[in-house]
Amino acid sequence: MQGKFKRILVTAALPYANGPVHLGHLAGAYIPADIFVRYQRLQHRDILFICGSDEHGVPITITADKEGVSPQVIVDRFHAMNAASFADLGISFDNYSRTSLPLHHETSKEFFLDLYSKKILKEKQDRQLYCEVNKMFLADRYVEGTCPVCGCESARGDQCENCGTWLDVIELINPKCKLCGATPVVRSTTHFYLPLGDFQSRLEHYIRSHTEWKDNVIRYCESWFKDTLQDRAVTRDLNWGVPVPLENFPHKVLYVWFDAVLGYISSTKEWARRTSDPEKWKKYWMDDGTQYIAFIGKDNVVFHCIVFPAMLMAKGGYVLPDNVPANEFLNLEGGKFSKSRNNAIYVKDFLATFEPDLLRYAITANLPETRDSDFYWKDFQAKSNNELADIYGNFVNRTIAFTEKNFAALVPASGNLNDRDREILAVLKKTPATVGALFEKFKFREGTAEVMNLARAANKYFNDSEPWKTVKSDPGQCATTVNICLQIVRSLAVLFAPIVPFSSEKIWNMISITTPLSEELWDNAGELRLVTGHRLKKAEIVFKKIEDATIENELQKMNPPESEATPEKKMLPLKPTISLEDFRKVDLRVAKVLACEAIPKSKKLLRLQVEIGSERRQIVAGIADKRKPEELVGKAIIVVANLAPATLMGVESQGMLLATQGDGDSFALLTVTNEVDSGTWIK
Ligand code: 2FM
Ligand code: ZN
Repeated sequence: MQGKFKRILVTAALPYANGPVHLGHLAGAYIPADIFVRYQRLQHRDILFICGSDEHGVPITITADKEGVSPQVIVDRFHAMNAASFADLGISFDNYSRTSLPLHHETSKEFFLDLYSKKILKEKQDRQLYCEVNKMFLADRYVEGTCPVCGCESARGDQCENCGTWLDVIELINPKCKLCGATPVVRSTTHFYLPLGDFQSRLEHYIRSHTEWKDNVIRYCESWFKDTLQDRAVTRDLNWGVPVPLENFPHKVLYVWFDAVLGYISSTKEWARRTSDPEKWKKYWMDDGTQYIAFIGKDNVVFHCIVFPAMLMAKGGYVLPDNVPANEFLNLEGGKFSKSRNNAIYVKDFLATFEPDLLRYAITANLPETRDSDFYWKDFQAKSNNELADIYGNFVNRTIAFTEKNFAALVPASGNLNDRDREILAVLKKTPATVGALFEKFKFREGTAEVMNLARAANKYFNDSEPWKTVKSDPGQCATTVNICLQIVRSLAVLFAPIVPFSSEKIWNMISITTPLSEELWDNAGELRLVTGHRLKKAEIVFKKIEDATIENELQKMNPPESEATPEKKMLPLKPTISLEDFRKVDLRVAKVLACEAIPKSKKLLRLQVEIGSERRQIVAGIADKRKPEELVGKAIIVVANLAPATLMGVESQGMLLATQGDGDSFALLTVTNEVDSGTWIK
């Protein structure tokens, strides 16, 4: 931390509550941020670590549409899952919030209204893509097409993942609606725009004043400054998000990125409300004494280095990020991490088999700090077994076990020092400062290697000192060796605490220190603080080795043998052709689900009360194993309205709803947006 700052605010990108967090996410932002924060806490600095779930945006509504549930159901599911994954991994957020909370909506609306009332936002009629089939504007990821910059054919409406370009939906070549595949038409609609161009010179000055930033981040920003920055829409024609807080703008919400970055502020407010001073959030956001560090993955650079700073400049009075240490991507076994089944490893699944510290270490030792890196299962095993277990764990274990056996588990007194003793003590003394300087520069990989080097040197010192011989030949020297080794065990517990905190706590307990590890001061970690005669607890294995079979099993999950691989999808044979006349006999209508309940004693059946225009009907559907009753209420579904009534489990069904004939994940209920009136005829 530089001298002028009194406190540090750390944020880590808010992950979308649209899927489980995976190892790629960890390497991008969360592990580096957590190491930084834990290190700064050991420096006893005033630091606050903020995050939360990003619960708006089109990826979430698309998932909800696919599952036939409301977006709230999706975000509730993944918010809980991801908060648990982070906690299990020891990511030590001071607050993990969510952007669907009223506090966040209020914060975002106030922010928007402030910019609106200052006439900073421009209201413009603009052209957007509209799907005539789904009767909706196709914002962001509702549309896919060819990237005008790199030619990638699967660029999304807001960004091309291939080249990272932030796109305007209208720029896509050959756009297609993601919901139905139709080619959208261009329609005009009114939106609010943030005139980034008006902030360009301030932004350029801001970025250029930070020559210490990572090269990749600076290069990316400079590529933006080559052209005049364009006005960017900060509203969307959608129903899920923070509603635009102005009359005459129904069915419009704030653009997800506009509200997501404000999630850092609302999460800080939420944290402050839990303390005795609800206004304390201002100390972190509105005082020049704050050093604000925003940890992100490289795909988020434009929003954190250009858009968010411009928003904060427009609002005034807020601190800007003092650094945005964006990481490159972590790939998996040579391929890109992605959510589709075989090329992502989810944190929750990983932690079901392995200890969190093993994952933390393997990711840290391989962070994509300057270029993309890879997660390989075999490398994970090697890092766990050959480094954590064989070097660090072995040193700790043999030192404590030796003390137990030869010194009745009491720290022996150190006597005269020989050259070897002096040499290792010199390494110990300088390590906290060396590692600290690297951590301050966000070089966590190198810093971690330095800590492991100390453990390596200590192991060698133990070997070379041969205490198992000197215990008989030179007990004084043996005591000195053991004293030094125990001092290093204690130091390693402190120095490794930001990286593998669970193991540090375990070792802290083994060496039986009663003051909490968190009260240690990093800069003193190289000092010899264990007093002669201090009693240790029993030696325990800190890191268990990972068997080859366990790794083979994981590899097999990624590449199942041919016989277990998913068989080629088989389609049911098509039914005989019917005439248009036959088809027209089927009366399909939009129906609104008013109420829904399970039918007692039936595992499969749900009873739905629906409204079809002015009519009320009762429909029985065999989907109880796929959907909960509360997920259906409020949905606009499609029903066959002229089917002869049937009785199921004694309950009359006056129609049939349309859904796919799949099971598990592939099940989908056919729905339309709630804008379509019930009773509307579908042909
Ligand atoms: O890329 C993402 O996962 C976004 N949800 C990150 C948002 S970061 C910030 F704006 F909150
Ligand atoms: Zn591209």
